[in-house]
Amino acid sequence: MKTTFGPQRLMFPCPTGLIVTGTMEKANIVTISWISLLTSSPPTIGISVGTKGYSGSMIKKGSEFTVNIASVDIMVEADFCGITSGRDTDKFARTGLTKIESKIVKPPIIKECPLNLECVLVSSGMFGTTNHFAGKIVETHIDTDKLSETGDHKSFSIEAINPLIYIGGAREYRQIGKKVGDAYTIGKNLL
Ligand SMILES: Cc1cc2nc3c(=O)[nH]c(=O)nc-3n(C[C@H](O)[C@H](O)[C@H](O)COP(=O)(O)O)c2cc1C
Repeated sequence: MKTTFGPQRLMFPCPTGLIVTGTMEKANIVTISWISLLTSSPPTIGISVGTKGYSGSMIKKGSEFTVNIASVDIMVEADFCGITSGRDTDKFARTGLTKIESKIVKPPIIKECPLNLECVLVSSGMFGTTNHFAGKIVETHIDTDKLSETGDHKSFSIEAINPLIYIGGAREYRQIGKKVGDAYTIGKNLL
């Protein structure tokens, strides 16, 4: 049996992304879990950013942002960036998170996040009351200690990265569980 609830905004699991806008001198961090890759060529990412906060206007102004994937280690800092505003809070100063200069874009990346994407705004629009920003990924940073000896970008250990997972609806943070199968492969059992 199932039951229905009409239109709701339940979605899980979601990444916990820390979006940085601004410059090395004056940067802001906002926690965003509504994130999805949009196309593979060129690699492009979409983020949904509400109009009430400071970050939407910052992205429109600077046309660049970085997406930094939070690990469980910085759960408190990540939550803080989602309950305070850059309008009146210096979130880098308050959290102690460390800025590192990006290679291509003006907004810095966050040292404590194991995966960092530098993005250039290529499209923006409104869906209802929310800004939808599409950012072309122009550079990807991964902590070398999360990679195997081959150093290939796909050789990361997800256990070492330990991403902070957000459960929308329940408003909970979780960590990743055990591997249960190989994607694009296990379904062949039904071929
Ligand atoms: C776990 C978590 C996930 C969030 N996801 C989103 C999101 O996807 N989109 C959004 O607009 N706000 C999201 N928020 C809320 C913003 O982070 C929050 O409004 C923030 O205070 C805005 O900061 P700013 O004014 O510095 O931009 C989330 C907050 C938390 C704690």
